[in-house]
Amino acid sequence: MKRIGILTAGGDTPAMNATIQGAVVRANQLKVEIFGLIKGFNCLFNPRVPHVHLNPLYQEIPEIDPTKGGTMIGSSRDFVDPDKKAELDMVASRLKKLGIDGLICVGGDGTLNGLQPLAERLPTVLAPKTIDNDLGMNYPSEPGEWVRVKDSDARTGYRYEHRGSQAVFDLEYVVNYVTPGYATAVFVSAGGVERIRTTAESHRRIAIIEVMGRHSGYIALGSAYGRPDIILLPEHPLDLEHLVERVKHLYDLQKNVVIVCGEGIVDEQGRELGAETKTTDPAGNIALSGAAEALRHKFIQMIGDRYFQLYRRGNSAREAIFTRKVGHTQRGGRPILFDRFYAAQLGAKAVELLLEGQNNAVAILQYNSAKGFYVQGYDANRFRDRWGYIHARRMHPSLYDPKLMKPSRVGIDYLLPIFTDAIGDDDMEHIRRTLFAQGNLAQPYHSINTDINKRIRYLEEEEPAI
Ligand code: F6P
Repeated sequence: MKRIGILTAGGDTPAMNATIQGAVVRANQLKVEIFGLIKGFNCLFNPRVPHVHLNPLYQEIPEIDPTKGGTMIGSSRDFVDPDKKAELDMVASRLKKLGIDGLICVGGDGTLNGLQPLAERLPTVLAPKTIDNDLGMNYPSEPGEWVRVKDSDARTGYRYEHRGSQAVFDLEYVVNYVTPGYATAVFVSAGGVERIRTTAESHRRIAIIEVMGRHSGYIALGSAYGRPDIILLPEHPLDLEHLVERVKHLYDLQKNVVIVCGEGIVDEQGRELGAETKTTDPAGNIALSGAAEALRHKFIQMIGDRYFQLYRRGNSAREAIFTRKVGHTQRGGRPILFDRFYAAQLGAKAVELLLEGQNNAVAILQYNSAKGFYVQGYDANRFRDRWGYIHARRMHPSLYDPKLMKPSRVGIDYLLPIFTDAIGDDDMEHIRRTLFAQGNLAQPYHSINTDINKRIRYLEEEEPAI
């Protein structure tokens, strides 16, 4: 293999540039050229295939910065439709024209699904990224537990159901223990929870903080480091009576309550609280908005104004209960050490997988207590259910204690290896040195896109002039 392509797809994470850098460093060592394809799968459907040579003369270009969040080659939510065979053939022929012999897609479960038909046309591998931490499996046999049932309301005419676990859950069998991007998202969310706490304490308020993750509760679980009183996960339907009782108990005791909820939390009937206005992104993912607000409305109704008036802690429930979304701050900015370090290793592993002659493989990050974290290649076919579909990982129920509404002992054991040394000294030093730097006030922001634009080349330019 002489030249490979790399693209970054789906919602960005703070660790994507670190993955790109890891891939480029390894490509340099192995004397392989690496082209960055601009804006995820979108690039493949563009006849001009905008791209950047990331390592001319096997030297990385200076714009590659593993400490910078986002992705220097852009991302999009465009997806690959396996049924559009002619379009896929076109994509393969464009990449061939560009001299690309293998492709690395940096993405999550959606990207891994999109990659399946591409891998039938050229060697393609995945380097994982997602703040949601839902790429992987609780144990290797999990895909076989999914069943497909007819559903006329579903876009495809059917839906998938997971019919309970048929294997003993053990953290050491988790496939892809954690994905780059997750640790930084938790770092931001836990910090946000800490900050909300002191203001809730001062003003005797109940705070509901919504974190991202779509249907995955991993970010909410990790935000336990910020010490909220209650954590609500999408994987565990709400028990509103129990929740309100617990909120009132805590409020009586400490005059403030801090609740973290994942954006995809569901009520007793399994209805998503935040999806009252259902919209979908181009890849068909439901865009969730307002779980915390929906929960606040339920609290306002169930707790009522009188409760707060009696305590002289506010005139109304509306005044005392407030919501905040951590929002895109948890997906942006500088990645913390854990993410940078393992993202780079996974990027490098993806290059090795291609060079070893593997196709449709995933570079995964494994953990066991004897070895710690290590990267390994994994056959993507093993992620597919019997219909070929790759499901987002659902957090195993044993990681959460629904009575306490906090991580369980297993959940704590899951989090510890990731976070104990996740922050590097340089992460804190970076804030000290740069946040209040004088130049920030006087000089405009210099976007990476401006520099990359000057390096973008197009397919036509590669063709010999007549
Ligand atoms: O999948 C990553 C993610 O950040 C989710 O946690 C979130 O629901 C979604 O993307 C938000 O997407 P967008 O930035 O397109 O609104």
